[in-house]
Amino acid sequence: MTTPIEGFSKLTKEDKINWIAQHYTKYSEETVAILKQYWNNDAKLQSLHDEFIENTVTNFYLPLGIAPNFLINNKLYAIPMAIEESSVVAAASKAAKFWQTRGGFKTSILGTEKVGQVHFIYQGDTEKLTKFFHIVKPKLIASVAPIIKNMEKRGGGITSIELRDKTSDLQNYFQLHCTFETLDAMGANFINSCLEGFSQCLKDEVQNYNGFTDREKDIEIVMSILSNYIPNCVVKAEVSCPVSDLKAHHGITAEDFAKKMVRAVNIAKVEPYRAVTHNKGIMNGIDAVVLATGNDFRAIEAGAHAYAAKDGQYTSLTHASIEKGVFRFWIEIPLALGTVGGLTSIHPLVKLALEILQNPTAKELMQIVAVAGLAQNFGALRSLVTTGIQQGHMKMHLLNILNQLGATEAEKLSLVDYFKKHTASHSAVVVAFEELRNKK
Ligand code: MEV
Repeated sequence: MTTPIEGFSKLTKEDKINWIAQHYTKYSEETVAILKQYWNNDAKLQSLHDEFIENTVTNFYLPLGIAPNFLINNKLYAIPMAIEESSVVAAASKAAKFWQTRGGFKTSILGTEKVGQVHFIYQGDTEKLTKFFHIVKPKLIASVAPIIKNMEKRGGGITSIELRDKTSDLQNYFQLHCTFETLDAMGANFINSCLEGFSQCLKDEVQNYNGFTDREKDIEIVMSILSNYIPNCVVKAEVSCPVSDLKAHHGITAEDFAKKMVRAVNIAKVEPYRAVTHNKGIMNGIDAVVLATGNDFRAIEAGAHAYAAKDGQYTSLTHASIEKGVFRFWIEIPLALGTVGGLTSIHPLVKLALEILQNPTAKELMQIVAVAGLAQNFGALRSLVTTGIQQGHMKMHLLNILNQLGATEAEKLSLVDYFKKHTASHSAVVVAFEELRNKK
């Protein structure tokens, strides 16, 4: 049995690796070799990655693919995507090409408001607290002047501070609900620093205020933190074309295809089991670009799913309609993204991904990312309502199976060719592989 370790973070990287290999794996030498195999030869670059987190032992690779031909507001983009799922980049590229000849994607920003809250407990008269809040509000803002100076110079900053009485939800629970404009920064550090400044100022001012009893002065700040729920930081992306321009798909007329697409979206609107998978497909596209551009995909995921449930039932993030012979397909999604700060200027691949995207502002990146999500959803629904998902998925997954089977390059070429005309399933690939080997 392994025993707990003290001071793991202080060990050298080599020692950490040896320890993990000895204590938690069967093949210690092999483990060491696998971990070291992913070290970068460039020591400076490796040390940069080592320092992103604590206890780094190696790098974890994901493929970075490019989905070209995205026409967004009449500008062509090639979108970098970091993702392991075989069919995602292929599906995005196919959808991009399809819409590029049908007017492309149109996008607009519906809002850029970020949110943060100071949660606190106050045991006393609400009216007194409200009066105190109005007196102290300018002081709260003044107390973070050094933090907001630069952001304000660029046109951003604090946009509102509100006292909210939450006592009907939880005894004695109040909050400062604050909104921010963080421009090209995702803003997490800026917002959290402001909130911590507010809570310190609140604590100090409470002590100086003589309108409170001792009990009322005993305000307890529980926590100060940004919210990843940002229903007013939303982008809309849309495609549309006459139904007849959709062309016949896999033996289905353009009209039937359009109707099937709308029906598929409508099912995701009313059925949460389907909506979750539907939205997961959207996030395939979104997360891949968010990751490639060094943004926080966990924040994006949390915010998107909360938004999908904002009206009380989890539902589709995309919408579709056919009106007067025109098919429309669109998404509205909250995205808190940054193109400055964080990893954007430190991680060489992130920097390059942003350059490939023509160094977008945060607003432009919101639009590109929303488009990637919409394209992904279009691709997934198109397959689902026509051929089924497995045909395209297995085509892309084929190389993974062949690699698993240890196929040579020549065998891969031959089997990829074979499965252009045959349906690929895991067992069919195994049979075809064995037959090819046995022929020799
Ligand atoms: C798979 O990663 C994503 C899909 O399941 C999305 C969907 O069902 O819409 C294909």
